[in-house]
Amino acid sequence: MRSLKNILVTGGAGFIGVNFIRFLFGEAEEKPDFKGRIINLDNLTYAGNAGSLKEIKEKFGGSRYFFERGDICDYSLVENIFQEYKIDTVVHFAAESHVDRSILYPEAFIKTNVLGTFTLLECARRTWKDANDVLFHHIGTDEVYGSLGEEIRFSETAMYNPRSPYSASKASSDHLVMAYYYTYGLPVTVSNCSNNYGPYQFPEKFIPLMIINMLEGKPLPVYGDGKNIRDWLYVDDHNNAIWNILKKGSKGEKYNIGGENEMENIKLLHELIDIVAVKINSNVEAIRSTITYVKDRPGHDKRYAIDCSKIKRELDWKQNVDFRQGIERTVDWYLANREWMDSIRNGHYRRWIEKNYEKR
Ligand code: NAD
Ligand code: DAU
Repeated sequence: MRSLKNILVTGGAGFIGVNFIRFLFGEAEEKPDFKGRIINLDNLTYAGNAGSLKEIKEKFGGSRYFFERGDICDYSLVENIFQEYKIDTVVHFAAESHVDRSILYPEAFIKTNVLGTFTLLECARRTWKDANDVLFHHIGTDEVYGSLGEEIRFSETAMYNPRSPYSASKASSDHLVMAYYYTYGLPVTVSNCSNNYGPYQFPEKFIPLMIINMLEGKPLPVYGDGKNIRDWLYVDDHNNAIWNILKKGSKGEKYNIGGENEMENIKLLHELIDIVAVKINSNVEAIRSTITYVKDRPGHDKRYAIDCSKIKRELDWKQNVDFRQGIERTVDWYLANREWMDSIRNGHYRRWIEKNYEKR
């Protein structure tokens, strides 16, 4: 078991990063035995919101929680952080994460996801030359494996076949991380996870976008025929898996993480409508009538499904939150946090989403 003292979390103001930091500070159901410090490095793109960690800052700011606003591509900043905080663990979430944006604006994806990862790796390699018990954990996606047919699932040895600028940039970053392990012996682990859902997810993604549009009586845009399949995992289960890897994972290993919960988008949407309709006292059929089939996403991967037997077997991880429970919790959170949603949507994020939907 590793003992973790000073964790650099990159992208800790984004959806999974915020939930990860809250998880480490004991705010999720599973309570990790973490007593160290977290340094959150995030440059607050449209997707980052430091306000999501307000309570954490109030409770632990200056003692166990530190926020550094900056770009992971900035080598000297990253180096200063490594030295000042004596970083022994990196959990690298920071990325441009939205597939649709990568189709419209691929440059930012190459810069952050490829060059940013390279910068962090290079700094870790130089700073940790003589260090023991250090680890660079890279957060990857199942999208690097490409699009599945009907039968199989992605295992850790599946061939990479990225098909969007987003997944290609994430594949590049996975390869760089593994290259630093083989070439320089940098202690690394990589995890590739399926679709996450839960609180604090930015309302450009399928689930929060649909919830918001339902609340506002707007059309619910379904790409293509709605039959694309994703494998959904509650965000705390993802973070618990990452925690297991940080503590017990083997250096140079990759771990797939998934919900074992495949669903067609349209089926998910129907379930979501049923739940929201009850909670807001509205009519299911009226909401259903707002489903609007729109032009498909170019290169839209048909199906993702993760074989996560390795992490279950080797690190004793399992999903704790079933889909019905997780989605109810998520809807409740969005209903109770309209202010969070409004503050996000009234910022530059809103301008972006309007511009892009105009383009469709
Ligand atoms: P997100 O878009 O919600 O958050 C990304 C965060 O990174 C934001 O806070 C943003 O400000 C920050 N960031 C972006 N560029 C940066 C830069 N150059 N320097 C510093 N900070 C920067 O993303 P997310 O959904 O939380 O995803 C986190 C990670 O998990 C990503 O690497 C993503 O590829 C991976 N992942 C996500 C999912 C999912 O379903 N959301 C599933 C599997 C893997
Ligand atoms: O699989 C892991 C990936 O999951 C992560 O690596 C990405 O960072 C994350 O964004 C997510 O990618 P997806 O493209 O699967 O997520 P998104 O929420 O954009 O879309 C989910 C599905 O819903 C997908 O098949 C496209 C479809 N969709 C999406 C939107 C935004 C719609 O039908 N309508 C929409 O408006």
